[in-house]
Amino acid sequence: MLVTGKEILDNAHKGNYAVGAFNVNNMEILQAVIAAAEETKSPVIVQTSEGAISYAGMDYLATMVRLAAEKASVPVALHLDHGTTYETIIGCIRNGWTSVMFDGSHHPLDENIAATKEIVKIAHACGVSVEAELGRLGGIEDNISVDEKDARLTSPEEAVKFVQGTGVDYLAIAIGTAHGKYKGEPKLDFERLQTIKGLLDMPIVLHGASGVPEDSIIKATKLGINKINIDTDIRVAFTEGVKSVVTTSDVYDPRKICGPAREAMKKVVMEKMNMFGCAGKA
Ligand code: G3H
Ligand code: 13P
Ligand code: ZN
Repeated sequence: MLVTGKEILDNAHKGNYAVGAFNVNNMEILQAVIAAAEETKSPVIVQTSEGAISYAGMDYLATMVRLAAEKASVPVALHLDHGTTYETIIGCIRNGWTSVMFDGSHHPLDENIAATKEIVKIAHACGVSVEAELGRLGGIEDNISVDEKDARLTSPEEAVKFVQGTGVDYLAIAIGTAHGKYKGEPKLDFERLQTIKGLLDMPIVLHGASGVPEDSIIKATKLGINKINIDTDIRVAFTEGVKSVVTTSDVYDPRKICGPAREAMKKVVMEKMNMFGCAGKA
């Protein structure tokens, strides 16, 4: 069934586990994520970036995910990942997304608060949950480019001011992760996470979680991370699945190429669900 992000994440916050939020760009990725959630009995967040929306179309994604959620035996939320424009956010709210992220993390604090507050007012009036981000992650995204040198970890004091000033339902914080593939091993600032969670009695979100070692993920979950974003590890699984069959020019049936890729992605998603502690929580 299709539910709000808040419903899934409030349960995770109360139960002290994390739910995976997986980036979806096409039918095979969506099917892999839903099949993994059903097999592990996990609640799940299907998320679409602005890039995914320009690639597949807002209407296609909305229709596919709604169908998948209606058929699913587990709770599914449809979330906008890193929304940067008013147009995308309002479009998603109108098209059935049950959760939206407004990413104003590149703005100065007061501007970020003012813009996020406006989004919260509209989204909540429509029964849609809101995520926002404070602090800067390293890595490159479609619309936001942050030099790793400028990456800035979330200040606990600012986090309190931000949440009080905006009324967001969950907050993404920067504690040392980065989007994309890591060059070395990421070192997470667990002390900062613990301080922020102690000040904010609400679900906390970790972006850039692909490639973060299992022990760090488990520790972060114990200390209060409730939503964990995964994209790159799915992209890698897709590509490896494709490569495993496209070894000669004799393979040219898309079903014989995308089928193994879908299986490879499902396996990765199931591993994440077991690691995050959401398996069996549906
Ligand atoms: O954090 C960003 C996600 O990995 C989405 O990436 O904007 O290339 O779809 P994308
Ligand atoms: P990764 O691609 O590093 O897994 O990050 C995903 C993410 O944070 C999406 O918002
Ligand atoms: Zn992200």
